[in-house]
Amino acid sequence: MLSYRHSFHAGNAADVFKHIALVLLLRALLRKETPLCYLETHAGAGRYDLGCAEAQKNREYADGIGRLWSQGQAPAPVADYLALIRQFNPGQALNAYPGSPAIAQCLLRPQDRLVLCELHNSEYPLLKRLFSTDDRVAVHHQDGLQALKAFLPPRENRGLVFIDPAYELPQTWQQVVDSIQIAHRRWPNGSYAIWYPLIAGRSRQPFGTRLEHSGIRKILRADMLLNENERGMQGSGLIIVNPPWQVKETLEALLPWLVRILAVGQGAYTVDWLVEE
Ligand SMILES: C[S@@+](CC[C@H](N)C(=O)[O-])C[C@H]1O[C@@H](n2cnc3c(N)ncnc32)[C@H](O)[C@@H]1O
Repeated sequence: MLSYRHSFHAGNAADVFKHIALVLLLRALLRKETPLCYLETHAGAGRYDLGCAEAQKNREYADGIGRLWSQGQAPAPVADYLALIRQFNPGQALNAYPGSPAIAQCLLRPQDRLVLCELHNSEYPLLKRLFSTDDRVAVHHQDGLQALKAFLPPRENRGLVFIDPAYELPQTWQQVVDSIQIAHRRWPNGSYAIWYPLIAGRSRQPFGTRLEHSGIRKILRADMLLNENERGMQGSGLIIVNPPWQVKETLEALLPWLVRILAVGQGAYTVDWLVEE
């Protein structure tokens, strides 16, 4: 039984970080004309109304996209992401927030393809309906990690796998490591981005050494610690396997700015190779 609903959290600081990185990764892959495939294992509902009761309950978006919304000057990749969020908010007010599938849909071209998986019985129909008129998009009501075996390698042999679980169950961490190993064996030259939370009292490397010993090379880690005094989620990170050229340098340049805007107190960030090429 899945209880997590992303509508409570849409647009929070973790979303801002993962979606800025998503825009960056897709822009880099889109430099080549050849078609690509975007595969998302945990897609959510696709887009979110920030005025709904769930989003208003804790107003998490206020400390995420809300803080960036009024920034006049931002580093170029953040400005690029903000321009995309503005497409969903044509006036001055911030009313809606796109999920990762809607962000990818905006950026991808006619020759590209999106494969989206969502297991929740309430989220899946919303996602399905949202993309029902776009022939490039296939939406699947299934376990996204299991689905990797079936969908990889994609026929385009180029693209990004975006893995964004809610980590509701403790076994998810190991399942993610197992799945990425299987996926990477099937498609070694794909790019993979895996989001994870930084939880109070737990390691800043919550996958431990499991990824370092996985046999996979070219693994980048980027994380942001935003509130050391928080008793729950203090920040979040991304593991990026096979990052496109210059993604590391771009993250290094923008994370100091992003931490300054989003952190409560000092904050901190890391960008480093967990495993080099
Ligand atoms: C963090 S949310 C995804 C948010 C989305 N990626 C975004 O950025 O807009 C995680 C989603 O995964 C779904 N989910 C949980 N377990 C799943 C599984 N095994 N396979 C596919 N989806 C799952 C949840 O219902 C939830 O909608």
